[in-house]
Amino acid sequence: MRTIEWRDGTVITIDQTRLPHEAVILEMKSCDDVAEAIKTMKIRGAPLLGAAAAFALALEAYHSKAEERGELINELENAAEILKGTRPTAVNLFWAINRILDKARGFSGNAKDLATFVVEEAQKIADEDAAANRLIGNYGAELIHDGDVILTHCNAGALATVEYGTALGVVRAAWEQGKRIKVIATETRPKLQGARLTTYELKRDGIPVTLITDNMVGYVMYRRLVSKVIVGADRIVQDAVINKIGTFTIAVLAKEHNIPFYVAAPKSTFNLTNTSADVVIEERKPEEVTHIGSQRITTEGVDVLNPAFDITPLEYVTAVICENGILYKDDFGKFKANL
Ligand code: MRU
Repeated sequence: MRTIEWRDGTVITIDQTRLPHEAVILEMKSCDDVAEAIKTMKIRGAPLLGAAAAFALALEAYHSKAEERGELINELENAAEILKGTRPTAVNLFWAINRILDKARGFSGNAKDLATFVVEEAQKIADEDAAANRLIGNYGAELIHDGDVILTHCNAGALATVEYGTALGVVRAAWEQGKRIKVIATETRPKLQGARLTTYELKRDGIPVTLITDNMVGYVMYRRLVSKVIVGADRIVQDAVINKIGTFTIAVLAKEHNIPFYVAAPKSTFNLTNTSADVVIEERKPEEVTHIGSQRITTEGVDVLNPAFDITPLEYVTAVICENGILYKDDFGKFKANL
């Protein structure tokens, strides 16, 4: 099963807040259901947020009672506003919404045909993501050699995408080619996507994985226990890669130790009309830092910062792997021009 699927007016996914302990299937029947699942991080990961937003608009269209095309467009625009208010940083969400709205506005058929068109377009977005991940995996696997130990952060796997994954897609492709590799997964405080989701995915595939806490990265690099870093991205702008908080620290450490730092992401993550100054970094609630589960771990009333993402300037990035190939820093300008 894919991480997200459309089944006759219902969207099916796995509740990521319950993993790795329970695989609970979530059935969503409305745009509000999807928006709620995104806000509560039952659905997360940039490419998956794009596919989920697309399917949310498909639900809205499919269940709409609108008889006029214009009425349905209005409903889709209102749903889009709700979805855009869920999480601000991953550009895939906005990209998917805008793609569907633009195409819907340009569609000339009646309301019923428009609804069918929106469902088909959402399915296309999901299919394209699945295909992009296979290509990213194949291109990225060229960079991976027998004996490599790959450090990854957060979860950029099948669970963060429609299937296969971006950073973990590269790992999977190399593994499927028979390369003997190992992965080091950072736990990824405070939401523990590395500990909960990356280890779950890799264990299921039989790929060797070792879990470390975020503050062990410097030590494992100093000891030469890591040969490559591969992470995903929530947004790639003109001057930087935006990804899970802690990515920048890892990139600086990688540069210091001459370890290649790769970013694997589909083109739906590229936002090359913007710079890092334009990006809203999501600030999440303090309880994620002050508590582990229901247990308070710090002094009552302490001030807390909880940015969910950070900014890694491109000078720290060895190459970006996307469905078009491997883009080294020098190719990046050319790529921007061709997008
Ligand atoms: O807060 P999350 O779990 O949605 O953050 C996810 C990440 O930062 C991933 O690394 C990124 O979305 C890439 S997923 C292919």
